[in-house]
Amino acid sequence: MAATRGCVITGWATALPDRVVTNAEFTALFDTSDEWIRDRSGIAERRHATGPFVADQPPLSPPGGVGTTGALAVESGRAAMASAGVDPSDIGLLMLCTTTPDQTIPATSAPVSSALDIAGGAMDLNAACAGFTYGLVAAAGLISMGVDRVLLIGAETLTRATNFADRSNAFLFGDGAGAVVVEAVPADGALLGWDLGVDGRLQGILYADLGSGMVMKGQEVFRRAVRATVESATNSMERAKVSISDIAVFVPHQANSRIMTAVASRLGLPPERIASVIATTGNTSSASIPLALVDAAEGGRLHDGDLVLLAGFGGGMTWASAVWRWGR
Ligand code: ACO
Repeated sequence: MAATRGCVITGWATALPDRVVTNAEFTALFDTSDEWIRDRSGIAERRHATGPFVADQPPLSPPGGVGTTGALAVESGRAAMASAGVDPSDIGLLMLCTTTPDQTIPATSAPVSSALDIAGGAMDLNAACAGFTYGLVAAAGLISMGVDRVLLIGAETLTRATNFADRSNAFLFGDGAGAVVVEAVPADGALLGWDLGVDGRLQGILYADLGSGMVMKGQEVFRRAVRATVESATNSMERAKVSISDIAVFVPHQANSRIMTAVASRLGLPPERIASVIATTGNTSSASIPLALVDAAEGGRLHDGDLVLLAGFGGGMTWASAVWRWGR
């Protein structure tokens, strides 16, 4: 029988652009208010990697430079390796989860891998806002096949795919990155249960054509997101043979504080167990779960042995969840 081979998270870090954009900045772009945005989304501010923006003129950044997905990925990835105490030559695979790559070709992970001096392979993974959780499950699978260490990054410059003339969703999105190092251990490891899903027939409720801004049917996404996240989280917990009362911290995709509390309430989870950074980051797609996870870890909310429930959903429509046992 093959020796047991699982994985654990051994290092983590985030990177956020310097520019803080408050809700007040949107009142100059369209008819809205700080109160409406906070009330409907829970967002007070977000970070923008580029800008300031002009309505009808979404900005495009040069690949690899300041204000790109690649630059945020490099910053978070380097810090995560330092936090894990590993050298770039120890990394067998870089997996960059993003829905906003810097170019169509090559994958953004290619220049990021070179900038970080990573020895192993590199690939991008796009499952929209479910991307990081898809990546974590994929990393665990590759580690079970023999890869020793995966640098898993969620990085986005969503503001490059935002229509700043559209008041129904422009205020939601932000830029940022979060990274973790996932390492092999000679034990069952931390991934106790997982669930991945997609329904491509729903692509019309949330999409951005190449070079264009996001189009979203907000209320429909909201309704379906709550249902998909609850079902997926329930599947993961069943596979992990745990119940909601065993979950110490719930790390949902940070799309809207009302979605997060609605999901928690349907799962029977007290709201204080939600990890939330949405008030200061907005929706950063693939970066949102690692941003909230790292915030919980750095804030002393995660202890060795704690069970963490990760759950994301996004354009596709995609969804993904995982039950993870915290500890190195
Ligand atoms: N300021 C003021 N009023 C506004 C604004 C605004 N910025 N935008 C819309 N309104 C108005 C509407 O016109 C509407 O007015 P009406 O009642 O006179 O018609 C009213 O406010 C309510 O609009 P709704 O769209 O019903 O507002 P809702 O409560 O649904 O909130 C929101 C909108 C925040 C976008 C919400 O639907 C949402 O969060 N949806 C999910 C978004 C999401 O999760 N996206 C995830 C994935 S993102 C990705 O994958 C990259």
